[in-house]
Amino acid sequence: ARPIDIAVIGGDGIGPEVTAEALKALRAVLGEDGLQTTDYALGARVWHETGEALPEGVLDDLRRHDAILLGAIGDPSVPSGVLERGLLLRLRFDLDHYVNLRPTRLYPGVKSPLDVASVAPDGIDFVVVREGTEGPYTGNGGALRVGTPAEVATEVSVNTRFGVERLVRDAFARAQARERRKLTLVHKHNVLSYAGHLWRRTVEEVGAEFPEVTTDYLHIDAATIFLTTGPGRFDVIVTDNLFGDIITDLAGAVGGGIGLAASANINPDREVPSMFEPVHGSAPDLAGQGIADPTAAILSASLLLAHLGRTAEAARVEEAVAADLANRGAGSRSTSQVGDAIARRLSATGRS
Ligand code: IPM
Ligand code: MN
Repeated sequence: ARPIDIAVIGGDGIGPEVTAEALKALRAVLGEDGLQTTDYALGARVWHETGEALPEGVLDDLRRHDAILLGAIGDPSVPSGVLERGLLLRLRFDLDHYVNLRPTRLYPGVKSPLDVASVAPDGIDFVVVREGTEGPYTGNGGALRVGTPAEVATEVSVNTRFGVERLVRDAFARAQARERRKLTLVHKHNVLSYAGHLWRRTVEEVGAEFPEVTTDYLHIDAATIFLTTGPGRFDVIVTDNLFGDIITDLAGAVGGGIGLAASANINPDREVPSMFEPVHGSAPDLAGQGIADPTAAILSASLLLAHLGRTAEAARVEEAVAADLANRGAGSRSTSQVGDAIARRLSATGRS
């Protein structure tokens, strides 16, 4: 097979440190000839130098790759929202990454802050299918009379039938392919009635195409309770962009920490590169010390392989991570020690 061609955006803070380890894992599992990478310097430094978060032409270059591996974006020296909106969300929106996939699996040996034996005796293994291009993230809003006592700010949540339906169908297909075949819609239809009605109706209608999948519903506030008191009940959760943002941080914590939480921003159209990134941010307080956990980035690389149809290799990476997690002692290892240990396991298992 021709090599996988990926664009690498290390980004800010610990981003480049963790993507370097994810690349080690990819090289170990694909072989030197199986992977081709191009680095894109984007993030705070480029913004300071050029005044642009995503300089002209870069998006077209990114489009030519099979996938994008991203570390983290964001730096305290840049005003809030500039890089988030101008770079990260810009990529998700312009590449139409409407499926924001965020799995949570409590791996053996990993300590959850929950008393798992009592709240999830059968384990924790669910995936949040978060909408990635709509909701309150579109920038549809405005402010009036700013700085006066009469100031008004609106932030409108955009929910289109097209956008909700394509996401919900993807979530059902993922539920159908899993063992428990259960889909939970998370929303807040008792208050957000217009969008809630659209989401509920869409789940009901698309659900008719998937008779083997059972569906249920939780309000977002109640979902946070169940995520901590009974996370074993979840299989596939489908939800909007903002609710999905919030519950996937909670899910990350439940799964043993945000350092392990991987994500995929997927456009199922294979002609457009999907983007794979840890759920965590740039963690400026940890940057440059070589102490960030690269596991989330490595698991994101596994999602990348799975998306590109390299399922055997994806499984091998996940297994190597699981084996590493199962054998983590009390001592702390550096970022590259963790990456090296996982890459070594992958080289040892050989290539197919
Ligand atoms: C995430 C992040 C982003 C989001 C921010 C940085 C724009 O929190 O990937 O979860 O809200 O989606
Ligand atoms: Mn988030």
